[in-house]
Amino acid sequence: MTDTFTAFVIDDADGKPRGGFRTLTREDLPDHDVLVEVSHSTVNYKDGLAVSGKGRIARKLPMVAGIDLAGTVVESRSPDWRPGDRVVVNGWGLSETQWGGYSRYQRLKPEWLTRLPDAFTPEEAMGIGTAGYTAALCVDALESWGAIRPGGKEVLVTGAAGGVGSVAVALLARRGYPVTASTGRPETHEYLAGLGATGFIDRATLLEKGPPLQKERWAGGVDSVGGQTLVTALSQTVWGGAIAACGLAGATDLPGSVFPFILRSVALLGIDSVMAPQDRRDRAWARLARDLDRDALTSMYRVEPMDKLPELADAILAGQIRGRVVVRIDG
Ligand SMILES: NC(=O)c1ccc[n+]([C@@H]2O[C@H](COP(=O)([O-])OP(=O)(O)OC[C@H]3O[C@@H](n4cnc5c(N)ncnc54)[C@H](OP(=O)(O)O)[C@@H]3O)[C@@H](O)[C@H]2O)c1
Repeated sequence: MTDTFTAFVIDDADGKPRGGFRTLTREDLPDHDVLVEVSHSTVNYKDGLAVSGKGRIARKLPMVAGIDLAGTVVESRSPDWRPGDRVVVNGWGLSETQWGGYSRYQRLKPEWLTRLPDAFTPEEAMGIGTAGYTAALCVDALESWGAIRPGGKEVLVTGAAGGVGSVAVALLARRGYPVTASTGRPETHEYLAGLGATGFIDRATLLEKGPPLQKERWAGGVDSVGGQTLVTALSQTVWGGAIAACGLAGATDLPGSVFPFILRSVALLGIDSVMAPQDRRDRAWARLARDLDRDALTSMYRVEPMDKLPELADAILAGQIRGRVVVRIDG
């Protein structure tokens, strides 16, 4: 085990958060029960905000950024984990209130760790990352609600070419749902069709304000965009259908009407991956292991070295990332 290692740390710079690479030792890490050697992390939208300093993600400083990590247990004071166990961590306040994944080593609470399914390497697990795990939570919520059924009406995925959207498309298509992908990037249609999308809708169409009840089209939907897009999706959802809302890539407001809820029994299912209980996490990862095609997964992500974090953060905030970015943690 190396004595010193590199981490991406957010510090206070005259009252503003500023990120940079720092050299740490194990003594610098929090005093939690499980020491994990991190091999891979990812870049999510929230990471983009944290690394660039454009969003106040860290609620205390200094903070090691990175909301996801995958790696191997090195030391454990918990009976639940042993050296050599392969683990994945998504959320639990990593990079907000707890030190996160952009660090070769991290100490974590035992209850934050999820056992990595045998089906995945740590690199693949981070190819999925919080985005993919959240997509699985969304599909799980739609199925549990009874809103969607294989071979039934179309299921809408917004922000389809993004991280959450790509995995949602692949998971839904694999289960036999007809998937319509909403994207603002026509050049991604071939990629999305490869993941199983059978229909496409320009994201500008969903951004148009319309009547609160429109022609019933969607059995359900996974929305990572929010705002008018979510309102339009709700207004076009069939009686008894549901939209799982997990994101705000477009907007945070909900400028709509209650009519879809009270006249069509449409459900708005909120999805928070950060504090999701362990049983839902296990179910989501089991779904990913069962339904996520390996070729589809490989086509969804690329691997980048840790020193590229600043430019990757800018790219994700500018909407220039297709699918997912895995970060190799070395040093
Ligand atoms: N609830 C949770 O626990 C949870 C977990 C993970 C992520 N999230 C949230 O989910 C959202 C998506 O995350 P992600 O990792 O998939 O991000 P991402 O890879 O950046 O994808 C977001 C996608 O949204 C679309 N988009 C971006 N700006 C838009 C705009 N102004 N109007 C309409 N569409 C727009 C784009 O899709 P197209 O290019 O296809 O148009 C983009 O690829 C983010 O808001 C993130 O914070 C929430």
